[in-house]
Amino acid sequence: MKIIDGKKISIEVLDEIKASVSHRVENNLKIPHLAAVLVGDDGPSQTYVNSKIKACNRVGFQSSLFKFDKSILENELINEIQKININNNIDGFIVQLPLPNEINQENILNEVSPYKDVDGFHPINYGKMALGIDTFLPATPAGIIELIQRCNIDLKSKKCLVIGRSQIVGRPISILLSQNKIFGNATVTVAHSKSDNLKQLCLESDVIISAIGIPEFIKGDMIKLGSTIIDVGISRVDDNSSEKGYKIVGDADFKSVSEKVDYITPVPGGVGPMTIAMLLKNTLKACSLND
Ligand code: GUN
Repeated sequence: MKIIDGKKISIEVLDEIKASVSHRVENNLKIPHLAAVLVGDDGPSQTYVNSKIKACNRVGFQSSLFKFDKSILENELINEIQKININNNIDGFIVQLPLPNEINQENILNEVSPYKDVDGFHPINYGKMALGIDTFLPATPAGIIELIQRCNIDLKSKKCLVIGRSQIVGRPISILLSQNKIFGNATVTVAHSKSDNLKQLCLESDVIISAIGIPEFIKGDMIKLGSTIIDVGISRVDDNSSEKGYKIVGDADFKSVSEKVDYITPVPGGVGPMTIAMLLKNTLKACSLND
């Protein structure tokens, strides 16, 4: 079994970005600037946004956080987004999801300038992604592809099961892996909450990409020998032996599946760190496109 070390690979990517920033500085080019819009006080969202800002500091990017109370009205938030759209100092920005229920996510994401949409969630960029046209790829699928490529895993003609059809992970990664690209050419199946016989689908798969957020759902007896698991799940479960009283686990039961897999991404330290690295890579791209 080989553990795909997302933490280590993400540091390689961040170091490459940092070198590009130094190169830009030497050539009097603009320093990339990423902004994050955070609405409300959702704990995990605050943690994710803080990690994104910390990563910006690490590579020498500028960063800004626009924080709004959960009572902000949809049209007020749209106003704020339009201001960021025309702020020439900001190259790319994200609206951290989820948004409060009172705000329509689709209306908000449609307002983000496609040129600054480093999450790749605007319909124009999402459409380009689906068509295989160069654009900002959503960060988590981009991170998965980067891991697969840097570990020299060839998905050509492999049976690849994506569990979950979210806009952020399941849907885009299923589209990308079926494309006729160097990282793609897989035979992709998408399973979701209405799918029957998930165990059978898992057993038939060479590669499982799981993004359902059910802690330790995939057990050793559900997978075939020599398979690969890319675990996108991040769940907190009680753990009295830890100081915090909880631990972070993925969708796969690491202990039982590790006896059968060839490759696996751990949680934490697998896909998670790659997501942030790819967001920064998109921001560098947004900035370079303005040179
Ligand atoms: N919430 C969970 N994942 C993401 C992501 O990739 N981007 C944004 N903006 N919000 C998220």
